Amino acid sequence: MSLKRARITALGRYVPERVMTNADLERIVDTSDEWIRTRTGIRERHVVEPGTPCSELAVRAARMALELSGVSPDEIDLIIVATVTPDMPFPSTACLVQDKLKATRAWGFDISAACSGFLYALTQGAAFIQTGAHRKVLVIGADVMTSILDYKDRATCVLFGDGAGAVLLEPGEGEDGILDFLHEVDGSGGSFLHMPAGGSARPASHETVDARMHFVRQDGGHVFKYAVRKMADVSRHILDRTGFTAEQVDLFVAHQANLRIIDAAKERLGLPEAKVVKNIDRYGNTTAATIPLALATAMDEKRLKPGDLVLMASVGAGFTVGSVLVRWSGVPWSASS
Ligand SMILES: CC(C)(COP(=O)(O)OP(=O)(O)OC[C@H]1O[C@@H](n2cnc3c(N)ncnc32)[C@H](O)[C@@H]1OP(=O)(O)O)[C@@H](O)C(=O)NCCC(=O)NCCS
Repeated sequence: MSLKRARITALGRYVPERVMTNADLERIVDTSDEWIRTRTGIRERHVVEPGTPCSELAVRAARMALELSGVSPDEIDLIIVATVTPDMPFPSTACLVQDKLKATRAWGFDISAACSGFLYALTQGAAFIQTGAHRKVLVIGADVMTSILDYKDRATCVLFGDGAGAVLLEPGEGEDGILDFLHEVDGSGGSFLHMPAGGSARPASHETVDARMHFVRQDGGHVFKYAVRKMADVSRHILDRTGFTAEQVDLFVAHQANLRIIDAAKERLGLPEAKVVKNIDRYGNTTAATIPLALATAMDEKRLKPGDLVLMASVGAGFTVGSVLVRWSGVPWSASS
């Protein structure tokens, strides 16, 4: 069986209109704009109106990708949604998106891999294209992190924002498309970044709610050190095994959790600033949405052109680690969207 190459042929994004600045957070918790900027690089983040579900953001990003590419929802074969903030435990957000989009022929499912979710979903979607099973796969990363943030915990609530990004995958015969992926998990790191209750281990109860266990909990320092090491390791490993050098990378699209993590990875890889996408200042960490939102920023800044070698990397709760290497195909784009 000859394998096709999966190409990214469309891109869409959505962030809610409402912006929460560091000054807004100063009024909620004991923090300062200066602390947040210098420790994380974040100035502001987009946040939903309370009660806005994840599927709403996912659908808007998907619609943008489909409209720009002229593909109609009923042409989609498969929808994969990466998220840790699904509308509800079940049905999956992919089912809700399928219905809202009226993607009448599509099946779908969710992937839970936190900040690596989009890259895991991209790899999974690409496999369905490569085998020839499907011709049009929608891969969406979407999270409403504000729905699980504890606004009494200054160490976590300042870090995250809401958003969604989507790509369309289609088969191609050329040199462009997804070249390789490399993923790892290290489940021993689970307790360093997690939401303790709400699952089968600790179903929701008055006690879990009173103990604020339905929010993100993180040992920031531990996650930071792991992320710095792994982001660079996985990036170097995927380059080595595909025979590329860091000099050949045109764009490094790293998960946006902390500016210092991105800069450390950049330095370890020996990449110049001009090859690194950064939008954490405007969005914060949007979990599964950060990589497609970063691709959208690169499109806005005209830093992505067909043929470019794009290295994407992420580290997230789990721990999950991901890297995907892409020869960029070019996508229709409208910066105003
Ligand atoms: C969270 C993070 C920004 C904290 O930065 P840090 O330099 O490690 O800071 P520390 O956790 O050591 O905290 C330093 C001090 O700042 C305080 N602090 C924490 N959050 C604060 C805030 N928002 N405002 C002001 N002070 C804060 C702490 O209480 C601590 O005070 P203390 O020294 O009196 O105890 C950083 O650890 C980080 O980014 N971690 C990784 C996060 C991440 O990537 N998560 C997602 C993975 S996908």
